[in-house]
Amino acid sequence: MDDGVSTIKIFDTTLRDGEQTPGVCLEAGEKLEIAQALAKLKVDVIEAGFPVASSGDFEAVSLVAAQVKGPVIAGLARANQKDIDMAGQALAKAERPRIHTFIATSDIHLEYKLKMSREQVLAQAAEAVRHARKLVPDVEFSAEDASRSDWDFLCQVFTAAIDAGASVINIPDTVGYTTPGEFGTLIQYIRTHVPNIDQAAISVHCHDDLGMAVANSLAAVLNGATQVECTINGLGERAGNAAMEELVMALTTRREYFKAVTGIDTRQIYRTSRLVSTLTGVVVAPTKSIVGDNAFAHESGIHQHGVLNNSLTYEIMRPEAIGISRNAIVLGKHSGRHAFEERLREMGYELEAEAINNLFVEFKALADRKKMVFDRDIEALLSEKSAVKPE
Ligand code: KIV
Ligand code: ZN
Repeated sequence: MDDGVSTIKIFDTTLRDGEQTPGVCLEAGEKLEIAQALAKLKVDVIEAGFPVASSGDFEAVSLVAAQVKGPVIAGLARANQKDIDMAGQALAKAERPRIHTFIATSDIHLEYKLKMSREQVLAQAAEAVRHARKLVPDVEFSAEDASRSDWDFLCQVFTAAIDAGASVINIPDTVGYTTPGEFGTLIQYIRTHVPNIDQAAISVHCHDDLGMAVANSLAAVLNGATQVECTINGLGERAGNAAMEELVMALTTRREYFKAVTGIDTRQIYRTSRLVSTLTGVVVAPTKSIVGDNAFAHESGIHQHGVLNNSLTYEIMRPEAIGISRNAIVLGKHSGRHAFEERLREMGYELEAEAINNLFVEFKALADRKKMVFDRDIEALLSEKSAVKPE
């Protein structure tokens, strides 16, 4: 953008790093369903999986690559020929394929995991990118554990990766160790010490071990990163990854401060969050920012009074912005089919009579357990059924 506002690309890794959440395992069909929701949300990149990891993951990446159009579809590969070839095969049918290859650069990973010297890592990183470029035109290179790596060595590796043809260099805070000030300075350092940096986009990938993944990613944006990697509901290894809904709504709500926008259709955020929660079985905490049950609930009388007069007194975002409609009429066990059908229509759903009948039975069962049924509960019933909302 030329008015000083930059466009930040959203790289969603719910289907890869998000699936590394302990206890989560998605089948290919479920991954496809989530990928289709991500495409509707208008993410720029979907990392569909790690094809060499299992035949199931290979199948899932192939399915997403063949059927999901719009976003770039990425497959992860370690920096070796076999992984990269498998990723290339799985992405064969993608409209816009990207191979995402990585190798660790921190001394602790080199000594205890890779058992390689810095010279060997440098050579292998460049060789991996060169090989991937023979298969696809778009290659992302990640320096695993970048935030604990020697900064000058990191810059050498990125320079070699870009020379070998990487279009994106990614700076992961793999163990969620960095802080916003430090990470912002690292991004600046890379921008000024990687001589060919103008030939690649700068991406960041932050984990949440100290609860700073979103803050660290935003610090990177303030310092020139143009791609942010994240997951729906902040799923991911250990404490998870930067949460997509938090990043996007921070950039949207504080647009003047960050001078950045994303291409995300924020009205799809809530239902995508519910779909991912339903399919992964990972419950969203009520106090979770943006998508938690309490995110727009007002308990105290003073707050309720303020919100009724003007919602901006206690709300910095409108629930409608993330796809939750605010309704004066609360549905409950005494509500009839007509009111239920009307509410579905107001929420933008056009369903066949039979689908409404089936859903109404489930609604009644829910209303028996729950005093009030909100739109978000109806969204949850619908996402279990994967009802399609018209454009
Ligand atoms: O956390 C990490 O370093 C990763 C890389 C593979 C990008 O997930
Ligand atoms: Zn990660």
